[in-house]
This record gives sequence, C-alpha cells and structure tokens, in this order.
Amino acid sequence: MSNPINQYNQLDPAIEARVEALLQQMTLAEKVGQLVQITPSTMPDPDQLTELLAKIGSGEVSMDALFQPRPDLAELIRSGSIGSLLNLANPEQINQFQCIAVEESRLGIPLIVGSDVIHGFRTIFPIPLAEACTWNPDLLEQASRVAATEAAAAGIDWIFAPMVDNSRDPRWGRVAEGSGEDVFLGGAMAQARVRGFQTAVLPGGRNIAACPKHYVGYGASEAGRDYNSTELTERTLRELHFPPFAAAFAAGAGSVMSAFNDISGVPASANPFTLKTVLREEWQWPGVVLSDFGAIAELVPHGVAADLKAAARLAILAGVDMDMMNDAYAPHLAELVAEGSVPEAVVDESVRRVLRLKLGLGLFERPFTDETLLDQTILSDEARQLALEVAQQSIVLLKNEGDLLPLPTSQRLAVIGPLAAARRDMLGMWTLFGKEEDAETVLEGIARYVADATYAAGCSLTGQEGVEETAVLAAIDQADVVVLVVGEGANMSGEARSRARPGLPGQQQALADLVAQTGKPLIVVLMGGRPLIVPRLLEQADAVVMAWHGGICAGRAVADIVFGTVNPSGKLTMSWPRHEGQIPVYYSHKSTGRPMTGEGVPQFGEPFKSRYIDLPNEPQFPFGFGRSYTTFEYADLVVETAVLPINGTLAVSATVRNSGTRAGSEVVQLYIRDLVGSVTRPVKELKGFQRITLQPGEAQQVRFELPVAQLAFWDAHMQYRVEPGEFQVWIGSDSASGLVGSFAVV
Ligand code: BGC
Repeated sequence: MSNPINQYNQLDPAIEARVEALLQQMTLAEKVGQLVQITPSTMPDPDQLTELLAKIGSGEVSMDALFQPRPDLAELIRSGSIGSLLNLANPEQINQFQCIAVEESRLGIPLIVGSDVIHGFRTIFPIPLAEACTWNPDLLEQASRVAATEAAAAGIDWIFAPMVDNSRDPRWGRVAEGSGEDVFLGGAMAQARVRGFQTAVLPGGRNIAACPKHYVGYGASEAGRDYNSTELTERTLRELHFPPFAAAFAAGAGSVMSAFNDISGVPASANPFTLKTVLREEWQWPGVVLSDFGAIAELVPHGVAADLKAAARLAILAGVDMDMMNDAYAPHLAELVAEGSVPEAVVDESVRRVLRLKLGLGLFERPFTDETLLDQTILSDEARQLALEVAQQSIVLLKNEGDLLPLPTSQRLAVIGPLAAARRDMLGMWTLFGKEEDAETVLEGIARYVADATYAAGCSLTGQEGVEETAVLAAIDQADVVVLVVGEGANMSGEARSRARPGLPGQQQALADLVAQTGKPLIVVLMGGRPLIVPRLLEQADAVVMAWHGGICAGRAVADIVFGTVNPSGKLTMSWPRHEGQIPVYYSHKSTGRPMTGEGVPQFGEPFKSRYIDLPNEPQFPFGFGRSYTTFEYADLVVETAVLPINGTLAVSATVRNSGTRAGSEVVQLYIRDLVGSVTRPVKELKGFQRITLQPGEAQQVRFELPVAQLAFWDAHMQYRVEPGEFQVWIGSDSASGLVGSFAVV
C-alpha cells in the first residue's frame, strides 16, 4: 500500500482545506511555533557529546544519557511554541510529548519527530557509500524499508536521509554517507531510498517522510574540508547537484534539508536562487525546507547576517521553512513580521507546508506510537538476513593476484590487525540507535569457517606506540596465509571527519610492512568510510578486499567473501585516487584542450598535455571497478539504430559471458559521450546499469534502452536540450573499459 506522503507532490484538496482551516485559527506565535524544531534535551557541549556518543556506542551508557529533558519542554509544547522534535527514539517519551501537543495545546496540532536514520535504525546496514557499491537499488529499497519500519516503531515520523550529495573528494568525511561521485547512480540510489522509507504503511499504521539532504552543493566543499565554501556555477549546480534532489522529489520526498555551505558567496540556507527560483518556481515543489542543524545561525559567521534576527529574516525570505536548532525563528520571526520586514504571508506559506507534511503523514489521525511495537520490530531475522546480503554485495574485490582468493578452509590462517576484532567500528559512522553488541567482528566471521586461526591485533588503530612485533610474528609463524584487517575506524569518516591524508592511520602501515616481510601470502581486508590512499599496501598485498564499514553483519560478510561462499560483485562508486594530489579525480571529467589521449583529437607532443609530471592521471581504480572470482567477457556490441531522431530511443546491447569457473554477478554499465556540444561535455557519462548473474559458461545479451531525451544538458544558452550530433556509447565492466560503438542524433 502506498504512503500518502508519496502523493504529496500533487496537492490533495482535502488536505489543503484542512490546512487553510487550521491556519485561519492560528495566532502569529502559533504559526512561528510550527516552524521550530528542537532537541528535547539541553545539548551536551561538543566535547561531552563526543564522549557520550562513544560511551553509548560501547554500551557503557544508554541513549537516555543524551536525553536530559529541557525543563521548559512541556510548556513549549503546550503553548504551541514548537512544531517538531529531533533525534529521540523512545516511544514512551515521544507519546508523552505528543500527548501534551495533541491534548493540551490550544489547537492540538501534533508534533513531528525527526531523526537521523542514515544506514539503519537498530539493524545497521553498511554505510551508504558501501550500499551504493552494490549497484542494487532494489536491495537498497528493501534496506531502507527495514530502517523505516524500525524507526516507525520507535515513534519517528521523519528520517533525515537519504544524503544525496555527490562528491569527488574522498578527503571529505561525509562521502561515507552518500552514494559516491556519480549523478546518475546517485539519482537511482536516492529514489530507491526514498521509496524504501516512504512506501507502505509501517508498524501501527504509521508513515515515514524522507528528507533528502543537504540542499545543495555540500559535497563540493573546497579541499574536502567539511562545512567549507563551494564555488559552483549555475551549470555545475544544474548538472551535478540538483538532479539527485529532483530524483528524490520525483520519488515522492516531501521535505529537504538546506545545507551549511555557501555557494559562490550565497549560503545555501539563505539562497533565493536554489531555494526559490529552482525549488518553488521551476520545480513547483510544495515540500518543507528544514534548515540543517544551526545552518541559519551560521549565516552570522558566514558574514551575511549581523545577528540571529537578520539571519532569521534572510532564511525565511529565501524559503527555509523550519528552523532546526538555530534559536532564530522562535525569538525573532514574530517581531520581524510585526515590524514589517517579513510579510506574514511568507510565514503562512511555510506553515502551510509544515501542516501539509503532518497531515500527509496522517499524524492528526495517528499521533501516538504503540509502545509495545519496538521490541517485536527491531532486529528481525529477515532484517539481519538483508543486512548480510547488502554487506556481501557491497564488498569490492580490488586485487586478487594468482587467484589467492577464495581461500580453502584447509589453510592455516593468521588474522592480524586492529580492525579484526573491532566490533563498534563495524557499525560505521552514523548509527545513533545501533548497538555494538549486535555486530559481528571479522574474527568471529572467520571462526565460522576455520576454528584455529591465530590472531594478533599488532597495533592500535590510530596510536603511534609501535607494532607488537613478537606477538605478530608468533601468530604468523605457523600460518600458510595471513589476513590483515586494517583501515579507518568508524569515527574517522562522516560529519566533521575530513582527512587531509586519507590513508592508513597510526602504525598500521608499519604493521603491514612487518607482515609483508615474512613473505607469506597476504590478503588485506581494508575498512573505511571512503577510498583510502594506500598505494604501498596495495602493492604489498596479493589480494585486497574493500569491506568499508559493513554494519552488523560485516564480519560474516567478509568471511563469506574470503572463503568464497559468496563471489564478490561490488563495484566502486568513487574513483580511487593514487595520491591526494590527484583529488578531485573522477571518471566524467572533461577532455580539455590538451587531453592525454583521445582518438581523432589533435595531440600535442610531450610534455604539453593536461597531466602531472610525477603521477599518472588515472586513478588507482576507476569508478565502476570491482573484481570477481570469475571472469566476464564482453562481445558483440550492437547499436540497433545508428541514426536517431531527437524523440527516439537508443537501443544498444552486448553479450556478456561468464568465462570462468564459478557463478557470479556482474554490474554491466552503459556510458555515453557527446562528441561535440555547444559547451564541453564529459568524456564519459553513466546512463544505465544492470546487475546480472551468470553460471559458468553462461552468456546473456544485455540490452539497454536509452531515450534520446536523457542525452539533454544545459547548453551554451542555459537551455536544457539535446543537441544533435555524434555520440559514442560503451557497454562495459567499469568506466575505464568496455566495447565502444557510435550513433548520431539528427
Ligand atoms: C547534519 C545533518 C543531520 C543533523 C541532525 C547535522 O549536523 O549535517 O545531516 O541530519 O545534524 O542531526
């Protein structure tokens, strides 16, 4: 059954009538109240917060430690001074607050409770970047449904996800939270996640609203430093940063979160172009814009507002409907209206949007959560099974020399490395409600296959105190093969976790050096929230498995891959740099006037090309790359129609054959290039993908249909249109290979 929120983009006359009836009765103070979202607790200061989150993660204290109710909360709700609460998930508490809102406030308008449920609520899935590496939107939709089901049982109405910011910079810690660098793939994943959150009625008849974020351009933070400025032309915004949001809205998302960053001088949370011209006028989108946490208050340090009152004015006039933890609208909005610097009609419009969201969710009919549901809902067997499947499909095999993997269980194994027995880190960067005890470690996963693996951590994750040489060598001594589990901890990616040197922290490379010196066959299981720049390690290892932070089933999924119960099928959704100096490195770059390679392009002699003199241009591993234990051969590219009308559809196919000895899944990718445009076009653009499974020797014709309309771009006059001309098309296994053909649009 579909969630009413999905119809939200078409206004429902019945809901509109109720919105107007309510609005007529509201005082200005009550209207402002609907635009205010706060946490129910007094926020611990940032140092305390980090410490508390660590303790919650390790199970030392419960989530309730975060929750020191504001003494004035009941009164704020009763007087209609707040419309929404964030980041709580205790159904009893939520019901108590809701009861005050519904039964004791003058108009009985229910609260809406929002929360960060980024890669699962209690059943923790792999981090979103890893999830995207499955290239399996159906699976992600199911995972998001599980997250929504558990969150709804906890009393949450509004999920602050999916994070749809594209990024080409793995220094930025928040790449862990997104789908990677690509606009097409990002849109597909955004839609899957929104559908998963919003479709179907959840436990207790509840509904969930998704909140794609962070609108807009946040992923372009300069130098990969979180919260940093962005310099984005209108063309870049339109080509790269708007589309995943448009995709999420098309899938029914009825709210969006405005970002922290400024965009070429105008902060995203006070940006009339992105918030009004595009969202409201061009897209006619009627949803709620919620500020990010403190993003309105940040207009002051951005230097576009002298104080909070000026910030409130800029934000509401630009179209930010709801204030998340800024303390800007509550104290200043009514005054701004009274003195005539904000028209009341602007406030009314924002209130309409918020009421529409609440009515669309059915909160007026079902304000309360059945408190008995949570325990029966979380961590079901099906949910765990799904978490395992996502983790298995998200793992990317980067290297496998001499087919070292998969390992037979008869080998004597040494497991080394600080992440081998790490539990909390398996959960990944953003798991407010996940529990360490739910996660399986790699060591435990391996123990499912071999009972007597020896183990030594070898060093700590980040410390500089040196390698425990004796213990490591003793553990390795009798082993036939070493599995080295290294990488970043969960708290080294995510918000505010930018890294200028995203490599192996601490003494882990020294540990790898020690292990490599023994000359034993070396399998590296790498973990992290981003592609890690580890060229030396990649060189030393015979086989490398990128396991990200795989959620509660991470350990088991790694073992299933290592021992070959599961054949790896994940593919990178971010190009993997060789060196920090290459960043940003991405597959859909422009040709430049001095390209390194390119058929039919006049070539300058060395060294006058767009290149480094000390590094190749190519990344270590390209976008779309990932190995399998079998091999896939591509043949017989057929472009069915070589000349297409502007309203036509390109049909192109290739035969993919499993030429190895194991069954395996392959993500078949479709890329195009527009050879001559009125503006420069990328050398490749992903336009389609299909995940197929083939038995040894089996072949399948994989056919894509691509409407010519999807070749449109913003031309020299900023018109969105298809320009007739010549195109190349590839079907291949990643962005750097494939069979190539051509077609023309006339
Ligand atoms: C993050 C958002 C998040 C919000 C609420 C902010 O710091 O940028 O992504 O939804 O906090 O927790």
